[in-house]
Amino acid sequence: MKKVIAIIGLTAAIAANSQAAAVTVTLACGAVGQELELCKAGADRWAAKTGNSVKIFESPNLTNDRLGLYQQQLAAKSSDIDVYQLDVVWPGLLAQHFVDLKGKVPAAEVNAHFKGIVAANTVNGKLVAMPWFTDAGLLYYRTDLMTKYGYKTAPKTWAELAAMAKKIQTGEQKTNKSFAGYVWQGKNYEGLTCDALEWVVSFGGGTIVDDKGAITINNAKAAAALDAAASWVKNISPAGVTTYGEEEARGIFQSGNAAFMRNWPYAWALGQGDDSKVKGKIGVAPLPSGGAGNAATLGGWQLGVSTYSKNQAAAISLVRYLAGPDEQKIRAIEGAYNPTIQALYKDSAVLKANPFFGSLLNVFTSAVARPSGPTKSKYNQVSQAFSTAVSDVLNGKSKGAAAVAKLSTDLARIKGRGW
Ligand code: GLC
Repeated sequence: MKKVIAIIGLTAAIAANSQAAAVTVTLACGAVGQELELCKAGADRWAAKTGNSVKIFESPNLTNDRLGLYQQQLAAKSSDIDVYQLDVVWPGLLAQHFVDLKGKVPAAEVNAHFKGIVAANTVNGKLVAMPWFTDAGLLYYRTDLMTKYGYKTAPKTWAELAAMAKKIQTGEQKTNKSFAGYVWQGKNYEGLTCDALEWVVSFGGGTIVDDKGAITINNAKAAAALDAAASWVKNISPAGVTTYGEEEARGIFQSGNAAFMRNWPYAWALGQGDDSKVKGKIGVAPLPSGGAGNAATLGGWQLGVSTYSKNQAAAISLVRYLAGPDEQKIRAIEGAYNPTIQALYKDSAVLKANPFFGSLLNVFTSAVARPSGPTKSKYNQVSQAFSTAVSDVLNGKSKGAAAVAKLSTDLARIKGRGW
């Protein structure tokens, strides 16, 4: 009897203890496509496992808006958000505000992720965040329309894409006035930087700023790439394309109103959803080449713990759980979020849900980084100057050659203040 009471006493003490230790962690996650839903579900799984709870801070869709909001929070040293979802181009900008996860996350756990992505999250030896999912630009196309218009394979070059998109658009517009040949991200924001980097690299025009920090954008190939993209506007792409982000392009493609789309992998899972008009009719290919091979911009998101968090231990536990293999697998299967854990690319359930994870593996492993590494804390300014120059060309305010020449001067001014 005594023993039983002692055990009950002990259990109660443990329960009281874990109750006292239970905390509420606030996690900022995005809301593009299924982002929010899957983020919440993962956080709930961690909460159920640990007895803690998670409050979700819903972030805006555009990465630029997220950054603005986060910078305000961090500059104010606010403890409101414990865990932030960080874009792969931000670690250099925000490193000082995040807990060094080196040593706090076991090395074996870190090393399971792609080396390059871990490197992108490491600033002066500090592990700023844990990789959560990776991204690369892809070309989506309508397999049914390819057959209908006599095409056997996805376009290999931008010129082929333009010709195919034009023919399909002309045919489809006879019965559907709002049909577009090609939709992509043309709004002046970070997404345009991603799309335009793909054009420029695929034309052989370099990466805006090279690995050593030299400004390389002022060249004829980069200019030609921008002029080519401008020729799509109001031709194979609607005039409105210069206002589209990821979700606008996806909305048009998924409702059956476009032949081709540039987007990230998340669009695959939604396109195959039951409410998608193009379910079962989607092909995925590498983006076309402009003569120097195809190029996909490296995107992706990480999870970092704020140094201003009052719940750092629980926040680190949440990050480890969400970035871990079980969660990455669920997110890959349900949302086509590309794992950053290499082994999951051999997982049969992941490959069954996303056949292109296997067939286009080289697109993901050879994706081109934006110059956030060499330009460090100035990356955001560099990217904004680039997307503004591109936007001017798309909107007919400038020609490619003049735009890259002016951009080069603008970038030199930014560099002059040090990067
Ligand atoms: C995706 C990418 C991210 C990029 C953004 C641009 O979310 O993962 O890296 O900055 O798109 O819109």
